[in-house]
Amino acid sequence: MKVLLVGGGGREHAIARSLAKSSHCPKVFCISELINPGIKKIVTGSGGEYFRGDTNDPSSVLGAAKKCSPDFVFVGPEEPNFHGIPDALEAQSIPCIGASREVAELELSKASMRDLQWKHRIPGRLWYKKFKTFEEAIPYIEEYAESVALKPARQAGGKGVKVIEDFQVYLQNEKRKVKKEHAESIVNEYMKGYDDIEYKLLIEERVWGPEYTVQCFTDGRTVVPMPAVQDNKHAFDGDLGPETGGMGSISCCMNLRYGVEDDRAVITEEEFARSAEIVKMMIDAIQKETGKRYHGIAAGQMMLTSVWGPTVIEMYSRLGDPEAANVLTMLKTDLVDICEAIICESLNAMKVEFEDEAVVVKAVCPEGYPDQRNLAKGHPVRATREDGGILWASAEEAGSSAVTGGSRVVECIGTGDTLPEASAKAEELCKSISLEDGWKLFHRSDIGTEKSVLRRIQLGKMAREIYQYRERRGLLGKRMIWIPGKGLMEVG
Ligand code: GLY
Repeated sequence: MKVLLVGGGGREHAIARSLAKSSHCPKVFCISELINPGIKKIVTGSGGEYFRGDTNDPSSVLGAAKKCSPDFVFVGPEEPNFHGIPDALEAQSIPCIGASREVAELELSKASMRDLQWKHRIPGRLWYKKFKTFEEAIPYIEEYAESVALKPARQAGGKGVKVIEDFQVYLQNEKRKVKKEHAESIVNEYMKGYDDIEYKLLIEERVWGPEYTVQCFTDGRTVVPMPAVQDNKHAFDGDLGPETGGMGSISCCMNLRYGVEDDRAVITEEEFARSAEIVKMMIDAIQKETGKRYHGIAAGQMMLTSVWGPTVIEMYSRLGDPEAANVLTMLKTDLVDICEAIICESLNAMKVEFEDEAVVVKAVCPEGYPDQRNLAKGHPVRATREDGGILWASAEEAGSSAVTGGSRVVECIGTGDTLPEASAKAEELCKSISLEDGWKLFHRSDIGTEKSVLRRIQLGKMAREIYQYRERRGLLGKRMIWIPGKGLMEVG
């Protein structure tokens, strides 16, 4: 058996590792822009070949596929989906685990995702406005003094999202100014260079609550959820600093339990089931709209909000990074068998199982990431304890080691009975990585610690009390205002 993997980051190293563990002993081939040293080792060890190439260019991926004649291709990142790589492969009768261009619209366009959610009345839908230009957004920002999330309307690797709370009347002019400045920078900077999308800016109502990702395998008929994972987006301990692609992630059982007592959960069993049902509804809706089958991964990047309970913040058409490292570490079932079931649309006949263990992933980054990536690039890496717990991410093979690629350089995985135990193991691995030229690395030491997890549980409890109160009164998802003399009124 032969498998071609598309992509060369930490997520793809996790996928390659799972493929290599398969009882089918596949030859693993890979194509990516940088040669990832961890994937290279697996490719070489399995008897495959590593191709350097543009993973967003159908002719380059088809060229690699032609050379190795794979039984199937596994597409790791989202951009190849947006560039129609799965479609190009399917057109040549090469089976592919990857969302076709039309179904990947769920992730590509945050505006299309919200349109679809409202059209199909899918729970967890937020109020939003979409704009093609900055000028179109000005009257809206001038008129409505609301707490909002300003977002690039296209998937842009988590960059450019800003939440602006607007509660104090005496600050409204200042807040308007900040909103306008950021809206303008989204259109003119963050969206510059993306010409594959009509709408550029999305303004959504601001919500709060713990965030979590529910990743699912799907063959278009059956949707199989994986354990919920919580990503930590901010660069520094205590959820401080700029947002990144993800500094690390935690998982513990299907519903993100803390790992000791049942009631110590960030989300409950029921909230997990509802979240997975929402992802299924999104898949059904996009298939209905496009007439295309969804083969691969669909994930809901969710928040437990006071308005709705489980609420979609974004959809992914692939595994999250670093969330992939959590779920693939826990996966007991053979990944190749799962891929074959997706291709044959027989996932319904399969039992997909996960270890009941806690997994903590911590990303190690060179200083400069995320805002000055040029400074974070080109430093030689010393990895003294490279073992099964370390995934290479943004790194380029250089002789027997690697140099940094400018983003998260490795992802360290710790496992254990509880999250703090797993966190301590990941911490040890992080300390084993350094840069030979003395340039500094940083990582978040708080991910998965008792204090950090308890904070998330507390936030979940606060959101739960409010959404359950609303639910009991038939007010779930409804926006209410109090009008003197009239009482509580539904708006919108
Ligand atoms: N962890 C965020 C992402 O995969 O986009």
